[in-house]
Amino acid sequence: MLEVDFLGYRLKNPLMLTEGPQSGTEELLKTASESEVGLIFTKGIRLEEVKSPVPFMNINKGSLYNADWSCIGIDNWEVILKRIVIDTPLVVSIAKNYVTAETAVQMAERLVKAGARVISFVDYNAGQLVETVRLARPRVKVPLMVKLPPFLKDLEENLKGLVNAGVDAIAAMDSIGPVLSIDINTGAPLLGSSDGSGYLSGKYILPVTLKYIYDISCFVDVPVVGVGGVTNTESALQMIMAGATGVGMVTSPMIHGMEQFRKVRDGLDNYLKDRSIDDISSIRGLTRRYNNKRKISDSFKAVISEEKCSNCGACFRVCYSHAILKDENWHTVDGTECIGCGLCSGVCPEDAISFS
Ligand SMILES: Cc1cc2nc3c(=O)[nH]c(=O)nc-3n(C[C@H](O)[C@H](O)[C@H](O)COP(=O)(O)O)c2cc1C
Repeated sequence: MLEVDFLGYRLKNPLMLTEGPQSGTEELLKTASESEVGLIFTKGIRLEEVKSPVPFMNINKGSLYNADWSCIGIDNWEVILKRIVIDTPLVVSIAKNYVTAETAVQMAERLVKAGARVISFVDYNAGQLVETVRLARPRVKVPLMVKLPPFLKDLEENLKGLVNAGVDAIAAMDSIGPVLSIDINTGAPLLGSSDGSGYLSGKYILPVTLKYIYDISCFVDVPVVGVGGVTNTESALQMIMAGATGVGMVTSPMIHGMEQFRKVRDGLDNYLKDRSIDDISSIRGLTRRYNNKRKISDSFKAVISEEKCSNCGACFRVCYSHAILKDENWHTVDGTECIGCGLCSGVCPEDAISFS
């Protein structure tokens, strides 16, 4: 079963389209809602209509640099929220970083009046998020979320501040930046912002997000949405095992289309069926449960399967402790030299290396 409970909703699956170009207009929200997505976040809402400097996106091998701070403005969003009817639950996201906490709360009040059922505040400044939730809590009578910036210092303290202020769920994380990418033919930056810098998202940021979600879910009990680098079933599963209730994607559906949600949904479904797991929630936080029982060992030796080894020599080439020996038909390991680093198994194309 892929259904999950989230802020009073029973979502058909944990997959979420978070803030980005594909949730920036009424038409796009309707299209997204026809895909296999469990929940949608609007693009970050600003007071004014704003266009991004062009070009504002550059794709590089599955990752995306963007300088996209465009928005159709809060007046247009009020109109949309008053009339839109979609089956998929919607989180209305406010680009808090451009306004004061008081203004963000006033925006939330306007958007709730127009029909918003969940509000999220996004800011690179976590102190501002705490202050905004504290101000909003008594005035905005719907669940309140925040989206955290990457690499937040004083994580535990900020999380406690958010929980004490009354936050109902936490998403992590925003794209990483500012970053720079350069055209080596001209030296020109690849994005159209004033200094050419932008923000990085997509598959390369996954390990950063996984550790973040793991840490957040160790510190707080509120539901966590893991977004950043999810591109397939495997990364979605990792996000859930790290502790996420919801799994967000933006870059991957931008590159591969909204069909990506169906593919990952089917992959999750198959994973559960293959292992006779009834409920996706039962693997949430699995990594923490594993770590609690983990014994740290210094004895970890590679073993190469004779059956699987194709004798390609990839393990031999990376083994800097010279523990891999060339046998007549395959490679073997000298257990006295193997230091158990793990590098060889990562380069083995046949998945022939295990450890004992
Ligand atoms: C082109 C683009 C525009 C985005 N716009 C917003 C935005 O308006 N507000 C926001 O909070 N996050 C925005 N994001 C960040 C995403 O919601 C998400 O946190 C980030 O891209 C990491 O997820 P991903 O690796 O699946 O893309 C944007 C991301 C991209 C790629």
